[in-house]
Amino acid sequence: MDELMNSVLNLVVPPVSLVMLGFAWPALCFLSACERLYQSFNGDHMHGKVVIITGASSGIGEQIAYEYAKRRANLVLVARREQRLLWIAENARQIGANYVIIMAADVVKEDECRRFINETISVFGRVDHLVNTVSLGHTFYFDEVADASVFPLLLDINFWGNVYPTFVALPYLLQSHGRIIINASVENWLPLPRMSLYAAAKAALVNFYETLRFELKNEVGVTIATHGWIGSEMTSGKFMMEDGADMQWKEEREVHVSGGSVQEFARLMVSGACRGDMYVKYPSWYNVFALFRVFTPNILYWVFHLLISPQGARRSSSLLGTGRPIPHSVGIPD
Ligand SMILES: NC(=O)c1ccc[n+]([C@@H]2O[C@H](COP(=O)([O-])OP(=O)(O)OC[C@H]3O[C@@H](n4cnc5c(N)ncnc54)[C@H](OP(=O)(O)O)[C@@H]3O)[C@@H](O)[C@H]2O)c1
Repeated sequence: MDELMNSVLNLVVPPVSLVMLGFAWPALCFLSACERLYQSFNGDHMHGKVVIITGASSGIGEQIAYEYAKRRANLVLVARREQRLLWIAENARQIGANYVIIMAADVVKEDECRRFINETISVFGRVDHLVNTVSLGHTFYFDEVADASVFPLLLDINFWGNVYPTFVALPYLLQSHGRIIINASVENWLPLPRMSLYAAAKAALVNFYETLRFELKNEVGVTIATHGWIGSEMTSGKFMMEDGADMQWKEEREVHVSGGSVQEFARLMVSGACRGDMYVKYPSWYNVFALFRVFTPNILYWVFHLLISPQGARRSSSLLGTGRPIPHSVGIPD
């Protein structure tokens, strides 16, 4: 009986829902535009508020710091490369940040997260926004891996490196009715080759924060940013050594990606977070692939297979996971 019922529902529910959604679409768009307009005037005004940004020493994190600086917030910039943070803090002050402190810390270690959160509380007495932007990408096919010791490293930075700061900051965010902002990636649901562990960590991240959003109700807001390629250190494969020297350690990768504007994305992300948006998607046309994924996953698979032929580009190119030494600046756990 159950089986018959499910067979009927499988046939009836999807088309009926799509037709209903089609009719409701204009009204839903209108309501969401009104909500956006209302939130633009009543969202968070960041002047004098306290923002912690992890992964602030490059790329998206750096530009997010400048966006909050324009809003005259107090900034706590966190990453491992102190020299980079010093320089970015100076830029942020010139742009308009109220007060900036930097903390060299490894967010994969809970005690180091406690150190920078406690320091923030002793200096400012509060936390309003926690922006998590730490990450470590990779460019290997899973079957090329010769050294499995990188698996936990990738999950540590891309997943736990968001969860630990959130865990430690949460009591203070509850007091201020603050907001957590995370940088996921469109790859959390639209995976591309060579990024299996990165995509898995991002999917875990999104599910973790979606659950947290429910648990926290409206006490603390959660903004999840899912974006495609953005031009940054990560996409150019560029990392910097502790002494400030550049190192093009992913230079051998054959697919060079330039990506969208990191400044534009940071601007969208910070205005979305201040407005209280649940999601920031950039570019938003990626959304259409979600429909393909749900209704015609085979077509999506064929199209991607044609566009991104795994055979043509196959070779061991990444340092990570291939048994070649990993530079210290990439971050090997002790
Ligand atoms: N760029 C893109 O195309 C793209 C696309 C989708 C999603 N994203 C996501 O957007 C976020 C920012 O990406 P991005 O392109 O700006 O990356 P990025 O330029 O590589 O920056 C990563 C940041 O994370 C910091 N970091 C790494 N491990 C850390 C650790 N253990 N402790 C503290 N800080 C650590 C790095 O600083 P230190 O080395 O100084 O510690 C650096 O500031 C990431 O979550 C990424 O996954 C980016």
